[in-house]
Amino acid sequence: MRIGLLGAGRMAEALGTRFAETGHQIFVGARDGDKSSRFAQKIGESVAAGSLREAAEFGDILLLAVKRNAIADALRSSGADDGLLVGKVLIDCNNLGPDPEGTASIAEEISLLSKGARVVKAFNCCHFEVWKLSPPVFDGRPLSVPICGDDANAKAAVRELVASLGCRALDLGPLNKARHIEYLAAIVIGLLFSGFAPRTVFNLITETEF
Ligand SMILES: NC(=O)c1ccc[n+]([C@@H]2O[C@H](COP(=O)([O-])OP(=O)(O)OC[C@H]3O[C@@H](n4cnc5c(N)ncnc54)[C@H](OP(=O)(O)O)[C@@H]3O)[C@@H](O)[C@H]2O)c1
Repeated sequence: MRIGLLGAGRMAEALGTRFAETGHQIFVGARDGDKSSRFAQKIGESVAAGSLREAAEFGDILLLAVKRNAIADALRSSGADDGLLVGKVLIDCNNLGPDPEGTASIAEEISLLSKGARVVKAFNCCHFEVWKLSPPVFDGRPLSVPICGDDANAKAAVRELVASLGCRALDLGPLNKARHIEYLAAIVIGLLFSGFAPRTVFNLITETEF
């Protein structure tokens, strides 16, 4: 898959490294060109780097991983207002923090800000240290990754991406389920803040394994 990373922080590094290791083509986009080049060298040999806009142009799938308060700015820099994100699968891994308020989700906000993009919530329920595991398996079980979104094909692509990391996607339904996934992440963040180890996860156990 051709994946554009929008952001060059800890989540982009952990997931981008694993995406590169599992054979995906990666382009890192950051607001600072030098930083994105250094970052690209760190995460894989054939990883390309440039601006946020170039990363958005490159990727069929985009991972938006920036500070919560930088989302609107980063989407603008990625060409959202110029229609560059139309048809792109836009993965939102961003979180509200340990004490979210209200019912609007970040994912739905992103969908409004990036008209025509096919937003899928995913990868937000674990600390970035979990995404460095190869593969993320707990007690012999692949990690469950809750996802949601309104576009069936976009979710199929994200399910495939999740599977390529050795995890198991749990499709929770349309994008308006994102608030539940963000609140689940808030519980995890609260546990981490109270002293739990970074690789603390909720994982699904079913009576009959899938
Ligand atoms: N950390 C975790 O364990 C974790 C887990 C799950 C979800 N998340 C979510 O993932 C997102 C990223 O978290 P992180 O820990 O990776 O953050 P981080 O390490 O602090 O990196 C944030 C990134 O945002 C970029 N950025 C800031 N302002 C920007 C702007 N105006 N335009 C473009 N890029 C901008 C930064 O670029 P510069 O380097 O140029 O400043 C940096 O690349 C957050 O929403 C967080 O809630 C984090």
